[in-house]
Amino acid sequence: MVIAVDGPAASGKGTLARRLSAHYGLPYLDTGLLYRMVARAMLEAGHDLRDVAAAGDVVSRFDEGAFAEEALRGREIGEAASVVAAMPAVRSGLVERQRRFAAQAGGAVLDGRDIGTVICPDAPAKLFVTATPEVRAARRQKELAGRGESATFDGILADIRRRDARDSGRSDAPLKAAEDAVILDTSALTIEEALAAAIAIVERRRATAQSLLTER
Ligand code: DC
Repeated sequence: MVIAVDGPAASGKGTLARRLSAHYGLPYLDTGLLYRMVARAMLEAGHDLRDVAAAGDVVSRFDEGAFAEEALRGREIGEAASVVAAMPAVRSGLVERQRRFAAQAGGAVLDGRDIGTVICPDAPAKLFVTATPEVRAARRQKELAGRGESATFDGILADIRRRDARDSGRSDAPLKAAEDAVILDTSALTIEEALAAAIAIVERRRATAQSLLTER
């Protein structure tokens, strides 16, 4: 079974996707890391982030092991990833890798912005995880503090709003809920409550998929 988890920055989708993968024993791919890797490689090579030719070149020589995850998690790389992710050459260069991951026997959990709409449109279970910008900013501030990166709440909130506008406003695979996704607003939920709600959604979808199969 493929579980697609989409949503805006700091919505809690990564935590939920990771917990779902542990619950169901499925491999997990954080697709945001792929865009973060491209952004990091662009910055390290001294390229302008909007240089389409350079981005295409970086993606064609994509090396998944080039950076440790820790080096990709910072605030600056998240912002840079959102810029490179708007380029069709970058998106198309990363599609196959994501689809291959999703096609593993038994299934997988993938999280990102376009998993339910573009990467795995046939996924039986799709969640669109959201929370208010203020709740997301508070969560992001806590996460950054945990890694020793300090930033003001207002600065983070402004980042989040800018990132939402860019991720939702781009023409290629914008951030949006698939028509058959279930929206899960985690603003007032603890991680455990959000996980229970997510599992309930997946179980409902699984039961529906199963009954369609037996009807055939
Ligand atoms: O999920 P994240 O914050 O690590 O993602 C970083 C950026 O990468 C995000 O702002 C937009 C882009 N992204 C994307 O366009 N499509 C995805 N499937 C995942 C991430």
